[in-house]
Amino acid sequence: MLGSRVRERVLAVDVRSQPGEWTLTQPGIAGGPVRVVFLGIGKEEDLTPERFRRFAGQAVRIAEQMRVDEVSVYVRPGGGLGARETAQAVAEGLALAAWRFTELKGPEDGLPTPDVSSAHVTMDAEYREQGGDGVRIGSVIARGENFARTLQSRPGNVATPSHLADEAARIAEELGLTSTILGPAGLRDERMHALLAVSQGSEEEPRLIVLEHRGAEDGSPPLVLVGKGLTFDAGGISIKPAKGMEEMKFDMSGGAAVLGAMQAIAELQVPLQVIGVVPSSENLLSGKAVKPGDIISSRSGKTIEVVNTDAEGRLILCDALDYARGMSPAAIVDCATLTGAVVVGLGHHAAAVLGTDDELVEELRAAGSTSGERCWPLPLWSEYRKQLDSPIADLVNVGGRPGGAITAAAFLREFVGDVPWAHLDIAGTAYGTEPLPYQRKGAYGSPTRLLVEWVRSRVP
Ligand code: BES
Ligand code: ZN
Ligand code: ZN
Repeated sequence: MLGSRVRERVLAVDVRSQPGEWTLTQPGIAGGPVRVVFLGIGKEEDLTPERFRRFAGQAVRIAEQMRVDEVSVYVRPGGGLGARETAQAVAEGLALAAWRFTELKGPEDGLPTPDVSSAHVTMDAEYREQGGDGVRIGSVIARGENFARTLQSRPGNVATPSHLADEAARIAEELGLTSTILGPAGLRDERMHALLAVSQGSEEEPRLIVLEHRGAEDGSPPLVLVGKGLTFDAGGISIKPAKGMEEMKFDMSGGAAVLGAMQAIAELQVPLQVIGVVPSSENLLSGKAVKPGDIISSRSGKTIEVVNTDAEGRLILCDALDYARGMSPAAIVDCATLTGAVVVGLGHHAAAVLGTDDELVEELRAAGSTSGERCWPLPLWSEYRKQLDSPIADLVNVGGRPGGAITAAAFLREFVGDVPWAHLDIAGTAYGTEPLPYQRKGAYGSPTRLLVEWVRSRVP
């Protein structure tokens, strides 16, 4: 029912004034009613892609308030950005802001949902070609991130490991990616005992999901993206408190971002070999669950004393990282909602980045600022490794309270060998309750954009 939805357009025009301030005019333009909003974007010298993204997001929110379903924005490049980057950021902001997770909600009473169903970017004629390019790129990236958000939003009883695998296989089929999915038998053949140990307390089978984008010559060293796909984290026998536990359906956010990024990378036909790897499991409690004190083996051969079953992310990731390492990659980047400690350290405005290769860390920081999904470095000095010593196994899975996000990364580092590797701890940034203009409460899809920008930045 379109009842109260106004069939007209909002045209948002950028004004170099206070960001967020806006005024509305309604000139009687020939060809139909158009409302024009003059929307502040900030001073010329302060303009960044993220400013344009938020500006576009706010234009969508204003249209929603007015119950208008079509938005255009008029923008001029600024802040030293080209027309392509400007248009890309605006397209991202529009498409991300318009996304909503509706698939599990019945028809609403009263007014229909004021969703914006179409959005346009308008630029002066001289920017036509580059602007068009930017809009195409930004739309693809936003679609990838929106796919990640949809997967994140699905609850644990829907988005199980096998569901994530089915979704991965579906996009592979659609986009010409190669997919390999391992279930329990395949995981046993691969000796992925750490992933199997986490899943053994659950009725849901684990999966290892592998998607390959073959954009360059076979044999050229791939970039590997690894994402934690823990579809519900109750903590296992080291059970979490009830309050807020429902948020742990988001513990697959890293995996969702990797799948979203792989979708976008395939659609953009990036001329590189790129592989996405998502280990996926639940972390529940049962008579079969792994117990504190148990010692398990891992694909690498290293043995692990599981002191706390809630530090399960590093267990499923260590097998996936060892598997990735076997692909002789140019670099591995993993992302995971790995620790509460990173939220204490950085809050909700940046992911932590840690790694074995300073150049790679710098590349990720740069991709973070281009994409607006920022990450900030924490040290990974060898001294931290001592906190993981076990008297009876090669490693313990928790390093105590001091430097919790760092010791988690130090654990992962044990499994990547000499491959340039970096880790993004996204526990504070993948979802939340204080959204930016182009986000909504809940799933943010972060760091899909960062991953795509990083991969794009590696194109020679
Ligand atoms: N999935 C959690 C980390 C998490 C915490 C994500 C808060 C999002 C928000 C992870 O598996 C976990 O439980 N980590 C423990 C590790 C601890 C036992 C060493 C944590 O951070 O408390
Ligand atoms: Zn946990
Ligand atoms: Zn977890």
